Amino acid sequence: MTLKIEQAVSGIYSSRYAIIEDFFDENSVNAFLLAFQNKQKLFKEAGTGKKLDLKKNKSVRGDKIAWINKGESNELDTLFFKVMDEIQLELNRRCFMGLNNSEFHFALYEPGTFYKKHQDAFKTDDSRKVSVIVYLNKNWEQNDGGELKIYLDNAKVTVAPKAGTLVVFESELEHEVVMSNVDRLSITGWLKSVKP
Ligand code: OGA
Ligand code: MN
Repeated sequence: MTLKIEQAVSGIYSSRYAIIEDFFDENSVNAFLLAFQNKQKLFKEAGTGKKLDLKKNKSVRGDKIAWINKGESNELDTLFFKVMDEIQLELNRRCFMGLNNSEFHFALYEPGTFYKKHQDAFKTDDSRKVSVIVYLNKNWEQNDGGELKIYLDNAKVTVAPKAGTLVVFESELEHEVVMSNVDRLSITGWLKSVKP
């Protein structure tokens, strides 16, 4: 296990979250950005809730998303999904989380968009256990906004969405994306425990 994966897993184990800057190097970020561009036509406005619950509501959530799967890009397979599988395996070893599935999408927040405080588990489906986000914003600056805020019992953690940063947190924690002033790009997903 690499040191960075160890940091992610230890963070979940001890603090319910971890933020690791430069988790992915510049080459990986460039490969992810290329895959992101290649899917540009497939981005759709995101909703909140599932299926019949699905509400497209820009006053809650303004990002556009495109789902990604294993097998559609060599770069994503070797640089991204491989690492996610490793994190999942180590979380099961260390934290007995019973993770057996995952799902990921690219996300684009255009200027003026945000995602109000929420939890990632659905009312009807609590299979999402760990939320994972990788940011792809090169040269991010404070004025660009779009920070992630994670609400803990007695604290609030702020994450700058800088290229290469990985954040993981328990999906039941409340969190929000504050308004972005620039295009804000990420890969977002969940490690899941799906009951048979
Ligand atoms: C989400 C989410 C956080 C982020 O997509 O559910 O909370 O920093 N994303 O992009
Ligand atoms: Mn969320």
